Amino acid sequence: MRFDIFTLLPEVFSPYFQASILQKAAERGLLEIHLHNIRDWTHDRHHTTDDLPYGGGGGMVMKPEPIFEAVESVLGPVAGAADDGQPPCPIILLTPQGRVFNQAIALELSRQPRLAIICGRYEGVDERVREHLVTDEISIGDYVLTGGELPAMIIVDAVTRLLPGVLGDPDGPMDDSHAGGLLEYPHYTRPPEFRGWRVPDVLLSGDHARIARWRREQSLLRTLARRPDLLDKAALSEQDRRFLDEYRSTSPQAPSSKE
Ligand code: ADE
Repeated sequence: MRFDIFTLLPEVFSPYFQASILQKAAERGLLEIHLHNIRDWTHDRHHTTDDLPYGGGGGMVMKPEPIFEAVESVLGPVAGAADDGQPPCPIILLTPQGRVFNQAIALELSRQPRLAIICGRYEGVDERVREHLVTDEISIGDYVLTGGELPAMIIVDAVTRLLPGVLGDPDGPMDDSHAGGLLEYPHYTRPPEFRGWRVPDVLLSGDHARIARWRREQSLLRTLARRPDLLDKAALSEQDRRFLDEYRSTSPQAPSSKE
């Protein structure tokens, strides 16, 4: 999969990308990250990428010309350009106003062979970039960062680990918290007893069916306790529902999924 990242701070990406699983994915040919400095597409002496907002007010706004030029020179003409071409891949603007990123969006994006990501900075980006260049807008949460670089790293990371062959265990991403709409069950490793705290016996039993059932139930209980909102949308079996009903009827303080 190929990412083209348009940013004013390309230097912040390398330390993370080079020290993580992403580097291994790149070495194995599963991932290509191309960083493009938007400033390289300015033409004035000061390499200006921002300007005052029309109508006044605080903060600076990223100018449209270098962003359009950067994206078009890498991807080719896009909708709104003179010859009104179709972009070869989604063009994502990172902004706190976008749809909120989650595991389902990570999965959707991981099916694309290529993604372009524009990192906004300053107070925002000229509205014409939103209207005529980008095809998607994503936020990583309801808080405001100083720019889209950290969100871009988060998205590249979450998407890359879903690409076939990137993780050692091909089933790993299937069990992840959120993958099936539930939080993941608790994990334990050796030693079997640490400071008097024992690993649950079932995990040492070697009985794979019991272990699978225990894990499913722990996932359900954990989701009920921490994120009951997720249970409303999760794909639950009849057995899951019976388990939760039974648990609720014996634990009056258990949250209901509507809370
Ligand atoms: N830029 C600033 N804040 C952001 C957020 N929460 N998500 C994506 N991009 C951003």
